[in-house]
Amino acid sequence: MYRTHNCGELRTSEVGQEVTLSGWVQTIRDKGFIMWIDVRDRYGITQIMLSEETSTPQLMETARTLGREFVIKVTGEVIERSSKSDKIPTGDIEIKVNTLDVLNASKVPPFTIGEETDGGDDLRMKYRFLDLRRSSVQRNIIFRSQLAIATRQYLASNDFIEVETPVLIKSTPEGARDFVVPSRMNGGQFYALPQSPQTFKQLLMVSGFDKYFQIVKCFRDEDLRADRQPEFTQIDCEMSFVTQEQILNTFEGLTKHLFKTTMNVELGDFPRMQYDDAMQQYGSDKPDLRFGMPFTELNDLAKGHGFSVFDNAELIVGICVKGEAANFSNKALKKLEEWMKRPQIGAKGLVNVKFNEDDSVKSSVGKFYDEAQLKAWGEKAGAEAGDMLLILSGETDKTRKQLSELRLELGRRLELIKPGDFKPLWVVDFPLLEWDEESERFHAMHHPFTSPKKEEIPNMLNGDHQTMKNLKADAYDLVINGSEIGGGSIRIHDRALQSKNFELLGFTPEEAEAQFGFLLGAFEYGAPPHGGIAFGFDRLCAVLNGSSSIRDFIAFPKNNQGRDVMIDAPAPISEEQLEELSIGVVMPEEV
Ligand code: AMO
Repeated sequence: MYRTHNCGELRTSEVGQEVTLSGWVQTIRDKGFIMWIDVRDRYGITQIMLSEETSTPQLMETARTLGREFVIKVTGEVIERSSKSDKIPTGDIEIKVNTLDVLNASKVPPFTIGEETDGGDDLRMKYRFLDLRRSSVQRNIIFRSQLAIATRQYLASNDFIEVETPVLIKSTPEGARDFVVPSRMNGGQFYALPQSPQTFKQLLMVSGFDKYFQIVKCFRDEDLRADRQPEFTQIDCEMSFVTQEQILNTFEGLTKHLFKTTMNVELGDFPRMQYDDAMQQYGSDKPDLRFGMPFTELNDLAKGHGFSVFDNAELIVGICVKGEAANFSNKALKKLEEWMKRPQIGAKGLVNVKFNEDDSVKSSVGKFYDEAQLKAWGEKAGAEAGDMLLILSGETDKTRKQLSELRLELGRRLELIKPGDFKPLWVVDFPLLEWDEESERFHAMHHPFTSPKKEEIPNMLNGDHQTMKNLKADAYDLVINGSEIGGGSIRIHDRALQSKNFELLGFTPEEAEAQFGFLLGAFEYGAPPHGGIAFGFDRLCAVLNGSSSIRDFIAFPKNNQGRDVMIDAPAPISEEQLEELSIGVVMPEEV
């Protein structure tokens, strides 16, 4: 038997018992006549003790061959420690060792395996199996498991059925590039890995499953960021005979359940915000509501006073920085302006108006506006004595985006975000289509299967270009703390409307048929009204733990270049394999 107990469970109540533990050597303290060794497993750390008084010389000798991360098995008596530790739950006891077996030796690990580590990112990724031994990393993976189990519990108890959908499929457009897999048996043809199971879950509704879910891997070949991985996991869901209202309520219920069961956090009812309002008030479709600082538009007050930058701008918009925080020095303001002018943000300048405690007003554009005019701006923005307005101007979408970045940065710098605070929000009524000036075509704002609002259907079937730009969809996002956690929509379930949508998105009828004939065909066999949502499971793990990086919650993540540096993938394949897959190998004579 390898163990009677794990390394986290022994207490003074077990004093006097003979126990067997197995685990990894964490630390060794050798005082010559006495040795203490910390033995670690997933459950905790237990101290074992050997001494010249109580152990045979042979046992002491074996103990001296040990190094960090050796795997050992010890048997001994639980005794009360003379000097107790309140740092670990087993800190009141130790094991007086009778036998010690080395189950496996270990090379010296390339970084310290502990709560904290000295290993850099690259090294830790290369030796991810060692990084995963660290309790702080293990906790995240265990949390993820608990979250998946709680998700299944909630959805199963609400009559959802878990169905697995295929991974080798044909491209589903979700806005990213596909990863493709060549087919050996169908030379020159490729499967695509699913960006999501979208079309399959809709087909399951046509099949009558009524409520579907799947905790499922999705694959998207897109630029990576802290909250994006090329393969990630969704809690993917679909329901039949539902309204948007019922979907929002069901998944608000799921979210509350997950927060309660995994973090013991009670979330109140989720507010809802129209997409247009989110853009106007926060310059973002995923506003972080853990702090205020909404936008104030100043076009009506600031235009027409000879300041050409504002006069020529499509939008003049500001945020009000409150109280103490507004006492920025001129130097700090200059720095902030430079930060805004970096190419990543691209602002042309940053205007400030300070409302001083003595009721005077000072502004970087003071020569164009008198005090009364500036005070009117302050009034509109709700500024009080001691506050400061920061204002940007320019083309509407760009300016809003830039001000949103500034708002978030100030939220961080001024520490306006309370740790452990959660602010969920439904953003609703997204536009159906987005006009892309560059390619001169519409893109689906969510995906091509999203339904316009019921009252918009006649407009969609008959409207002109401008009408199409303004169509609103039954589409919604769940945002928590400024992170897009989930997105979904009511779907089109009618062939004619779906065909019209493909046409607007630039598909010829032949292309639509070739790519989505199966779905269009299915709509002709009694497709029920349906809709759904998918949560980003990795993001949900991260947000629940107040982390901005989803990598910490993925056992084997990819780096920013999309590489797994541990297994060294992607990697070339042999010429034989390429040939078998009918993928052209360029021969020297062909060059
Ligand atoms: P969407 O594309 O909005 O919707 O994706 C749903 C959620 O998945 C998460 N997500 C990601 N997480 C990590 N890395 C990525 N690269 C990544 N991309 C997306 C986000 C996002 O909100 N089929 C639709 C859902 C539906 O309509 O039901 C879909 O996939 O948290």
